[in-house]
Amino acid sequence: MTSATLLRRITDYAARADPYPLYAELRRTPVARQEDGVYAVSTYWEIAGLLHDPRLSSDPRNRVPTAGEEDILEEEQGLPPSFLRLDPPEHDRLRRLATRPFGPPDSPRRVSDLRGDLARMVSGLIDGLRDRERADIVEDFAYPFPVMVICKLLGVPHEDEERFHVWAEAIVAGLDPGEEGEGPAERLRAAQRARMELGRYLAGLIEDHRRAPGGDMLSALAAGHGDGERMSPLELVVTAVLLLIAGHETTVNLITNGMLTLLRHPDALRRLREEPGLAVPLVEELLRYEPPVQLLPQRTALADIDVGGVVIPRGAPVWLVLASGNRDPRRFPDPDRFDPGRTGNEHLGFGGGIHYCFGAPLARLEAQIALTELARRLVEPRLVEDPPPYRRNPVLRGPRHLPVAFDGCAP
Ligand code: HEM
Repeated sequence: MTSATLLRRITDYAARADPYPLYAELRRTPVARQEDGVYAVSTYWEIAGLLHDPRLSSDPRNRVPTAGEEDILEEEQGLPPSFLRLDPPEHDRLRRLATRPFGPPDSPRRVSDLRGDLARMVSGLIDGLRDRERADIVEDFAYPFPVMVICKLLGVPHEDEERFHVWAEAIVAGLDPGEEGEGPAERLRAAQRARMELGRYLAGLIEDHRRAPGGDMLSALAAGHGDGERMSPLELVVTAVLLLIAGHETTVNLITNGMLTLLRHPDALRRLREEPGLAVPLVEELLRYEPPVQLLPQRTALADIDVGGVVIPRGAPVWLVLASGNRDPRRFPDPDRFDPGRTGNEHLGFGGGIHYCFGAPLARLEAQIALTELARRLVEPRLVEDPPPYRRNPVLRGPRHLPVAFDGCAP
């Protein structure tokens, strides 16, 4: 089996429920050149090094398009890239401006102040399951919860969820490298259209917030910080699109993967019920063991980069396989064991370096509260289907549905 076909097997839907044995095979060649010129990096230290390497760009404009992508990249007069897809200095300026209303030093309490709202949202969703014996953890809980949170944070009306759900799905599908022999063109085009429409919707909303500001993040971003440095109207729209998508297509998988893992490890579920403080290391272990972002497929080498004796040539596309690095036995003892009390757990689940997940403090708090309450309140929960049906996407990986049976809900 060559490593080229191996990466294809990993993104193939057949591997979605359990890609980990294939990652173990991939790690035998830490930096593996694929037939199409992509370099897949699969071991912990090599990935961590590259996440901090300024010679690796996140900007799609540095990419040599692969077959089928040329036209689309040229057509891309739509929205410019968000700071997720920019390099310094633009990345740093926009991330700094976005951080002002979100985290320290200017807004140290934005996330912690949401704790009460988060707890109420979780209680309300679990109350809705009271008279039932079965639920789909995805549809009934893990999807609606982060959507409510990101709407509250940004100041987006929750009633509009149905409209932007469709755009969000199309944007996320654009990240999917697709099956063998399938061109990415149509999906990329649909993703671009959806980004434009979501951008248009958010531009209208930002205008409303400018006229009548609230305590939300979009109002704060639109108002600027009083020292003259602020985002342009277009940068603001692009950032709002990024936050809305990043804020709701990843946390759903962390919560769902979390519930699935707990149901497969009843001891951990029992422990979490008895010692709620366990939620903190347990969520970190989930981000290592079942990371919602499995790989970062959109980096480009700006120079020849020597990684462990293999030279990644300038211009080459690079995939950082985070989920594989998280199971690297050279970094984590007994890596295939789910150990909710694991210490020294510097996983790659939120990436690393300058693009380290902006929303990490919020995602952590959401997952901690959600899993603690599900563990506490669902009586005798059990899996109806194992493995459950998965979403198609190999990048943002998680179950599409998670049917669970239980004997009622504790108050
Ligand atoms: C469990 C949930 C989440 C996971 C696993 C996750 C994972 C990640 C990862 C791996 C990256 C790095 C991407 C790269 O290096 O190319 C990232 C970046 C980012 N995330 Fe998250 N994320 C989560 C939740 C969130 C939330 C809730 C928000 C928003 C409130 C958010 C906003 C962002 C943004 C804006 C970036 C870009 C940062 C930059 O380029 O500087 N994420 N996330």
